[in-house]
Amino acid sequence: MHPMWEKLEKALTKEPNLDAARATALMISDLYHSGRAVIRYEGEGYYCRTIFAYLACRTSADREWGEISTAYVRKDKRGNGQLRHMLEELIEKEKTPKQLFAISKDPAFIAVACRPEFGFRAVCADFQPLFDLYEWSRRLGIDSRVEGIIGSREFRITDLTEDNQGRGLLIH
Ligand SMILES: CC(C)(COP(=O)(O)OP(=O)(O)OC[C@H]1O[C@@H](n2cnc3c(N)ncnc32)[C@H](O)[C@@H]1OP(=O)(O)O)[C@@H](O)C(=O)NCCC(=O)NCCS
Repeated sequence: MHPMWEKLEKALTKEPNLDAARATALMISDLYHSGRAVIRYEGEGYYCRTIFAYLACRTSADREWGEISTAYVRKDKRGNGQLRHMLEELIEKEKTPKQLFAISKDPAFIAVACRPEFGFRAVCADFQPLFDLYEWSRRLGIDSRVEGIIGSREFRITDLTEDNQGRGLLIH
């Protein structure tokens, strides 16, 4: 494995909003090599490469839905649209499902995902009768993660009057 993946793993473990258990060097490199992640790197020469930004789309138990996850941009590169551009690129990828969700508490991630061109909306139990959040999360295999989010104080009610291409954002 290229050493850049281990370096990235180390950087990801220092981010409190990221789940280190889902971001080992093996997992993040596998996602990239299977066409389910995008990266930004710097450094001349193959072995001098360092990844400074990463974004993945994981499949869920329901193959129709993918999870946008492990959003990372190194501190010195933040605030320049790196995440926005990576999300654009990831959505265009052939292997990325049309319907997407993300689980996040990071304000910058939420700001980007909710931009009109991406159309993510906060979802909550009030989604019914349009759909049942509990049934949906069981189908996707994320019910144990969703359980702790529903009912959290910061959970937002969304405006569901417009079509958002089936993009849900669970905020906690
Ligand atoms: C989340 C993260 C990937 C964003 O990367 P980035 O390249 O800086 O993002 P962008 O520059 O594309 O966009 C940042 C947006 O967030 C907004 N933003 C930044 N801080 C914000 C805050 N505290 N509250 C609200 N919006 C905020 C910016 O205004 C910008 O929006 P704009 O393009 O409409 O002006 C980066 O901050 C990061 O790596 N954080 C640590 C890891 C993490 O927590 N990841 C999220 C896990 S879900």
